[in-house]
Amino acid sequence: MKLMVINGPNLNLLGKRDKSIYGEMTLAQIEAKILEKAKDSSTDVIFFQSNHEGHIVDYIQENANECSGIIINPGALTHYGLSIRDALADAKLPTVEIHLSNRYAREEFRHESVIAPICNGQIGGLGWHGYILALEYLVDLVGSVN
Ligand code: DQA
Repeated sequence: MKLMVINGPNLNLLGKRDKSIYGEMTLAQIEAKILEKAKDSSTDVIFFQSNHEGHIVDYIQENANECSGIIINPGALTHYGLSIRDALADAKLPTVEIHLSNRYAREEFRHESVIAPICNGQIGGLGWHGYILALEYLVDLVGSVN
C-alpha cells in the first residue's frame, strides 16, 4: 500500500515559520517521523511539497492511480484552493486533511476549509502528530477494505 503526503504553500519553511504556532520541527523531520511510523505497517509513502496550486493538482493527478490514500495539509490553499478540492475529489481516494495549528483559535478566514467536505476527516491543532494519526487511520481503513 502506498500513501501520498502533500504539503502546500509555506510549509517548506516549517522549523523557521512562527514556531509558537507551527512547532519546532522542519518538514524533513516530520516526514522522517511519518516514514518511521509507516514502517510498522510496511506502507510506502511518497512526499510532495509545493508553493504552487497547479503543481499540487498535477501531483495528485499523476499519482492517484498508484496510491490508496492521501494525507494533505493544503496550507493557505485550504481556504480557497478549489482546484485542489476538485483534484482530490477526482482522485476518489480516502483523504485526510491535516493542520498543524488549531485554525479555530486563529483568524476568522482560517476557519473555513473548501477542502474538508470532500475528505474523510480532518485533524487540526495537534502539530506533527496529526500526520501520524492520519497515517494510522488510512492504514486501518484501507487494510480493512482490501
Ligand atoms: C495550516 C493553517 C493554514 O491556515 C495556514 O495558511 C498554513 C498552515 C496549518 O497547518 O495549521 O499555512 O494549514
